[in-house]
Amino acid sequence: MANFTVNRVETSPIEGQKPGTSGLRKKVKVFTQPHYLHNFVQSTFNALSAENVKGSTLVVSGDGRYYSKDAIQIIIKMAAANGVRRVWVGQNGLLSTPAVSAVVRERVGADGSKANGAFILTASHNPGGPNEDFGIKYNMGNGGPAPEGITDKIFENTKTIKEYFIAEGLPDVDISAIGVSNFSGPDGQFDVDVFDSSSDYVKLMKSIFDFQSIQKLITSPQFSFCYDALHGVAGAYAKRIFVEELGAKESSLLNCVPKQEDFGGGHPDPNLTYAKELVARMGLGKNPDSNPPEFGAAADGDADRNMILGKRFFVTPSDSVAIIAANAVQSIPYFSSGLKGVARSMPTSAALDVVAKSLNLKFFEVPTGWKFFGNLMDAGLCSVCGEESFGTGSDHIREKDGIWAVLAWLSILAHKNKDNLNGGTLVTVEDIVKQHWATFGRHYYTRYDYENVDAGAAKELMAHLVKLQSSISDVNETIKGIRSDVANVASADEFEYKDPVDGSISKHQGIRYLFEDGSRLVFRLSGTGSEGATIRLYIEQYEKDSSKTGRDSQEALAPLVEVALKLSKMQEFTGRSAPTVIT
Ligand code: G6P
Ligand code: ZN
Repeated sequence: MANFTVNRVETSPIEGQKPGTSGLRKKVKVFTQPHYLHNFVQSTFNALSAENVKGSTLVVSGDGRYYSKDAIQIIIKMAAANGVRRVWVGQNGLLSTPAVSAVVRERVGADGSKANGAFILTASHNPGGPNEDFGIKYNMGNGGPAPEGITDKIFENTKTIKEYFIAEGLPDVDISAIGVSNFSGPDGQFDVDVFDSSSDYVKLMKSIFDFQSIQKLITSPQFSFCYDALHGVAGAYAKRIFVEELGAKESSLLNCVPKQEDFGGGHPDPNLTYAKELVARMGLGKNPDSNPPEFGAAADGDADRNMILGKRFFVTPSDSVAIIAANAVQSIPYFSSGLKGVARSMPTSAALDVVAKSLNLKFFEVPTGWKFFGNLMDAGLCSVCGEESFGTGSDHIREKDGIWAVLAWLSILAHKNKDNLNGGTLVTVEDIVKQHWATFGRHYYTRYDYENVDAGAAKELMAHLVKLQSSISDVNETIKGIRSDVANVASADEFEYKDPVDGSISKHQGIRYLFEDGSRLVFRLSGTGSEGATIRLYIEQYEKDSSKTGRDSQEALAPLVEVALKLSKMQEFTGRSAPTVIT
């Protein structure tokens, strides 16, 4: 057993360590500055209550991006020096974000220990590599992201930090081999437990879904399947679950070897722009395959996001959560006794609202960011939730869950096809979505992103939009001058949320223009970028008439898009004549 001592290192505050929507995300070059990571980690320990540090159990892992391995060794040494009793590390430092949440909630150590919290090392869907992004966020004992009270405290601490503690004499731990290493320090024993990255998560998934019926679907010759991990950490889970447990062919996995620290040089974000290979394979985009599979899905770097595709068919994330909610009770054993409630983020389309109303479910509209769902779930108010930003999940954990979403869709397909797998006609993803629109109406939806625009210009654009809201009649006059075929604005505001559980208030959560026909325009600044500002424009229009739900969405939304761009003076403020990404 190696002995270590505690080294107190003098440091000083480093600017800009304010955690965003999902922790601190910066370029690797920023993170590798002397003391940068150390300051943030110590500031986090200092923000936690003593019992969550001294004698505690801490999970440390992530999506494996560049700098993760070094960061894990640093955090292990700082945890030891701060009196943490044991650190749990997924093999090779890999754990998807949903798996971290599952481990925190479910894993029990050999000695009966449970995790108090976790450092997740990821910048999610942002590219990785020496010139790209790294990130770190702290999750609490419920498996969910730290609430604002804690992240604010962390930030305050980063502004006054004078010292941090790090173990000296503690060797680097081999995180490639499963097993426990014991060390001894001033506070007594300290262990590092390297464990299999997928077994806790796989066990949880098996307790939620009917794997047998999904397997029947996946192995049926009538069905075909494709999954793209975009070189992210989802690959390890996809292989275990889709291939080993559910019988999918190995060839149905694309980019599922999470070995590259830079995600193969790609942008690991599952949308129609970045998941190019999958999109083509599914018969969409520029060079479509001629014989696409029935079902396709992709994940982001840390596997909490998902994109669902059918054969030549894209399911919007807003529709996806609505469809899962509408079918959960019949198709997913975990929900068989009913849903406690459903929730969506404000910019997500109102498709879920219509389902909630029709099924008489509790419904919540929260600001962007998964942490708001967590409070509802902890209070037993919400079972299924989702965001337009390709996040879908449930109260089985406190993070969104990319693989869970795929299993939910496979469960719905398996349920709808349980009598069709002996040669009947398969109910496809497209059929399910179109049937949903016929029942509930369709929310045409698109999002325009203007990435890396000048931060000052973005602020001015938002201020301009807020100013316009003081006179709705002037807004309507302007709109009539742009397009006469667009409905009137009924109200406009800046979204504000009062958490029904803890009463906390979140202001400035996006600028809304709500139209008389149910259409909406929403403008927000991204909270996850690492450079400049990203303006997001969300455009939505509700169509109840089932004879009109089959239009191309860009075409259906063209009038509203024109209004949005002119009303906001997008080009004038940003100099951009087109968005960087359209989803
Ligand atoms: C992360 C969060 C999501 C959130 C998204 C918004 O992925 O986990 O809950 O929806 O960021 O990102 P944005 O860039 O729009 O702030
Ligand atoms: Zn992510």
